[in-house]
Amino acid sequence: MKVTTIGTGYVGLVTGACLAEMGNHVVGLDVDARKIEVLNSGGLPIHEPGLLELVQRNRAAGRLQFTTDVDAAVAHGTLLFIGVGTPPGEDGSADLQYVLAAARAIGQRMSDYKVIVDKSTVPVGTADQVRAAVAEELARRGVDVPFAVVSNPEFLKEGAAVDDFMRPDRIIVGTDDEQALLLLRALYAPFNRTHDRLMAMDLRSAEFTKYAANAMLATRISFMNELARLAERLGADIEQVRRGIGADPRIGYHFLYPGVGYGGSCFPKDVKALVRTARDAGLELQLLQAVEAVNEKQKHWLVDKVCARLGQDLAGRHFALWGLAFKPNTDDMREAPSLVIVDELLRRGATVCAHDPVAMPEARRLLGERIAYADTPEGALAGADALLVVTEWKAFRSPDFDAIKAALKQPLVFDGRNLYEPALMRQLGLEHHGIGRGGV
Ligand SMILES: NC(=O)c1ccc[n+]([C@@H]2O[C@H](COP(=O)([O-])OP(=O)(O)OC[C@H]3O[C@@H](n4cnc5c(N)ncnc54)[C@H](O)[C@@H]3O)[C@@H](O)[C@H]2O)c1
Repeated sequence: MKVTTIGTGYVGLVTGACLAEMGNHVVGLDVDARKIEVLNSGGLPIHEPGLLELVQRNRAAGRLQFTTDVDAAVAHGTLLFIGVGTPPGEDGSADLQYVLAAARAIGQRMSDYKVIVDKSTVPVGTADQVRAAVAEELARRGVDVPFAVVSNPEFLKEGAAVDDFMRPDRIIVGTDDEQALLLLRALYAPFNRTHDRLMAMDLRSAEFTKYAANAMLATRISFMNELARLAERLGADIEQVRRGIGADPRIGYHFLYPGVGYGGSCFPKDVKALVRTARDAGLELQLLQAVEAVNEKQKHWLVDKVCARLGQDLAGRHFALWGLAFKPNTDDMREAPSLVIVDELLRRGATVCAHDPVAMPEARRLLGERIAYADTPEGALAGADALLVVTEWKAFRSPDFDAIKAALKQPLVFDGRNLYEPALMRQLGLEHHGIGRGGV
């Protein structure tokens, strides 16, 4: 099939590359000329495991092209995927300007039947707005071209995006158009070979499903973070509690890790947007407001712990920080807890030297020279008053503890991801402060 992805970010690029891999002819469109230049010169604008090979292979096979040429991109695809950003507006609602600009760009140019697929995370009712924007542009041109609008929210996880797209848990397709559903069933058939994972539903339910999923996941994280605080007060160990409750199949082990708060480009904005959507509909979502408030507080907890140990004034103190990305296997730093932690440390007069396996270029773009960067985890340690572990990269899981002890000014570790066993740390002569690890 002929597919165009509008937006070549995490979602658009992965979607385009995976669809090309199955034999479709894909054009990736972006307004960011720099991104397209990087892609056309054989590189990748983002870090995503397995994506580079996929892009290179399909470009070489002539099934995947990238362009800034809107006319050519709209003309190419029968299926046009909108995968542009939906950042939070000032009031927390999803800012739809990029989605609607994409819709208008389609309406201004299309001359044959198109299926316009909303893959961006968009509030309930957005498909109606997309349909109206396209219809308005067609009317302005005085032409009548058939089209359908479909909601096909994306559930991939950054860091495992290619895998997730290739082996989806479910494919949600919201539409009231039989022909469009048929085309999407055919497009997704190769991803559905063991059993049918495609769930067809109405548009609004499809749009809502994405927010419901992210809100649930964010809730699990805030739930565990709040219980971690209580565990510490009560002298209980949240890690043992986590294992104890995860064994219940109704609860399960996934997404029960306490830490420094959730970040990234999805949970924070999607929780806010759902709260806003509800408010506009006359409903206060008390639970999700609490989820967000707990998360905001959690991002400060590691520095609170530092201050409880070393004093509120951190002037003259120097800290090693391991992990800048909001989670492992990505270079994405949108809403990363590390940004709040760095800000707090600097505001209190401290200096910071950080290491992240892939996010340092992005960190430099955001933080500039406000902190120092080390090429290796060990390189960040020299002369620091303490080590703060912020992202659970595999490379940080089994470090050389003796080297950490030798390099730090004092053997002090603030473990924001509970990577290390308190008893082992004690044995090694390291003072360990984890998240919710009372009594161990
Ligand atoms: N990142 C994720 O893990 C993830 C997962 C599921 C859903 N989503 C959702 O998917 C959407 C995209 O997220 P992302 O992380 O890929 O964003 P992103 O910022 O990485 O990419 C968006 C791209 O769209 C481009 N763009 C903006 N307006 C355009 C236009 N009119 N024409 C062409 N290109 C345009 C931007 O230049 C950018 O490259 C969001 O709604 C997000 O919530 C993201």
